[in-house]
Parts: sequence; C-alpha cells; structure tokens
Amino acid sequence: MSTTPAPAAPPKMPGPRSGAKTLAVTSGKGGVGKTFVTANLAAALAARGQKVLVLDADLGLANLDVVLNLHPKLTLHDVFTEKATLEQAILPAPGGFSVLLAGSGMVEYSRLTPEVRDKLLNIVEIVKPRFDWVLLDTGAGISDVVLFAVSLATDVLVVATPEPTSLTDAYATIKVLATQQDRRHVGLVVNQASRAGEGKLICGQLQQVLQRFVGPAPGQSFKLELWGEVKVDPTVRQAVLKRQLMLEHYPGCDAAQAIKALAAKLLS
Ligand SMILES: Nc1ncnc2c1ncn2[C@@H]1O[C@H](COP(=O)(O)OP(=O)(O)OP(=O)(O)O)[C@@H](O)[C@H]1O
Ligand SMILES: [Mg+2]
Repeated sequence: MSTTPAPAAPPKMPGPRSGAKTLAVTSGKGGVGKTFVTANLAAALAARGQKVLVLDADLGLANLDVVLNLHPKLTLHDVFTEKATLEQAILPAPGGFSVLLAGSGMVEYSRLTPEVRDKLLNIVEIVKPRFDWVLLDTGAGISDVVLFAVSLATDVLVVATPEPTSLTDAYATIKVLATQQDRRHVGLVVNQASRAGEGKLICGQLQQVLQRFVGPAPGQSFKLELWGEVKVDPTVRQAVLKRQLMLEHYPGCDAAQAIKALAAKLLS
C-alpha cells in the first residue's frame, strides 16, 4: 500500500535571497485597517510566489495574532530578551507567509529606548536577506516608536479612511515622514471607501495640501501615490470576528479583489 507524502510545510525562515523589499504600513489615526491590509497583502504576495515576513511592529499593542488566530508561545519579546532565537519565534501564518509576532500589553515598548531601537534594527537586518518582502505592521500616530519602526522600511504605505479625522491625521503623519525622514514618495491606501473613485479624490486632495505645506526643497517634489482603494465590505468585519484571514476564506469578495490588485501593483 502506498501512502502519498504530505506536502512539505513552507520554511519559516527561507534560505538567503537577494534582499527583501521593506514596506511599513502605518496610519495617522488608529483602527483604520493597517493590520487587515498588512495581513491580507502578505497573503496576496505569497499567493504570487513571494516569500513574505510580517513583523508586528505595533510593539506593546500588538494584535496581528488575534486577526490570524495564532497563539504564539514565543514572540519578539522573547527574541529581545534572548529567551528565543529568531528561527524559533518566526511562525508560519495562514495565507502562506511568515510572521514575527509581538506581545501585547508590554509597557516597556511604549517608549523608544536605545535598546529597543538596536534590537529592532538588528532583527530587520537579519531577516531582510531571507525574504522577498518584509512588511512592518506599525502602530498609529507619530510617536517615536512608530516613527522608528517606519524608518526601518524603504517604502511606506499610509492607510486612511475617508473620515475627516483620519484624513487630518494621515496628513500630519505624511508631513512628519516628509520632513523628519526626508521621504519624497509615500503610498496611500484609502480603506473603507464608500464609493469607487473616492480614493483618487482623497489622494488628489491630500497631495495638493502636502505639496503646498510640506515645502519641499527647490527642485524636489513630493509624491503621494494612490496604491489602492478598498471599499467598506461587511466581509472584512465578519472575517475578523471569526478570526479568519479574509483572503483565504473569502477570496472572491470585493475587499479581497482590492487587496490582490494592491499586491499586483506593488509587484509591477
Ligand atoms: N474595508 C473594510 N470594510 C469593513 N470593515 C473594515 C474594513 N477595513 C477594516 N475594517 C474594520 O476595522 C477594524 C480595524 O481594523 P484593523 O485592526 O486592521 O485596524 P488598525 O489600523 O490595524 O488598528 P490599530 O491602529 O488599533 O492597530 C477591523 O477589525 C474591521 O472590523
Ligand atoms: Mg493594527
């Protein structure tokens, strides 16, 4: 009697590659959909053959584990405190990508100490050569921890909803990224849009204000580029409530299509 061997699980820490693209997913206002976008984008990139690591860089208030229904025994905290190696703490996630989760409720990560800085920087440097993409799911706002996490990535994706409060905060975040981190190119995803075309409209409005007030040096321009528009979709909430990865369980829904289009854009 012959038995079919089980397919090999994807390596948690693949072998050396040519060097990952690093992308920080951030926002001005909290709760706008960063973790939802990051996790599903990771799955969409993985479905296109990319080796992806998501690093939960929302240190202290991490909740990527909740969205992915993972119950990690080892987290970034254990790597920081040298109780675990990176190989032990990097876990396979549903959707075919890898995750490095952070613990929640740890007050020591609410401030950016030189130690946290060095350790996070070191971890990103170690994982970069092993993946095609390293996505950093950061916290919201312009605290030094969030800005430092963003600074570790070459590219930044700002998530905003069409609400005026979210847009004001997105503007403030982008302004800080342009002035403090000298970023001249930032990607925007308008999430929870109520109609098609709202993303383009919002991106245009933000770009206009930024161009006027960020005050780039002569000869330099600032570009906010619309990378995606995800409409309000009840499936997103349903997936979160069931702790299911939307892209895996509802691949045909509107929001899943929008995330797949975002992945295609990033790969083009
Ligand atoms: N396109 C969408 N349609 C409907 N609901 C959405 C959509 N995107 C996000 N949501 C809802 O918003 C909630 C918050 O999303 P998420 O946790 O990804 O935000 P966040 O920006 O990571 O928050 P935090 O700032 O706390 O880290 C989700 O649990 C989901 O219910
Ligand atoms: Mg989040």
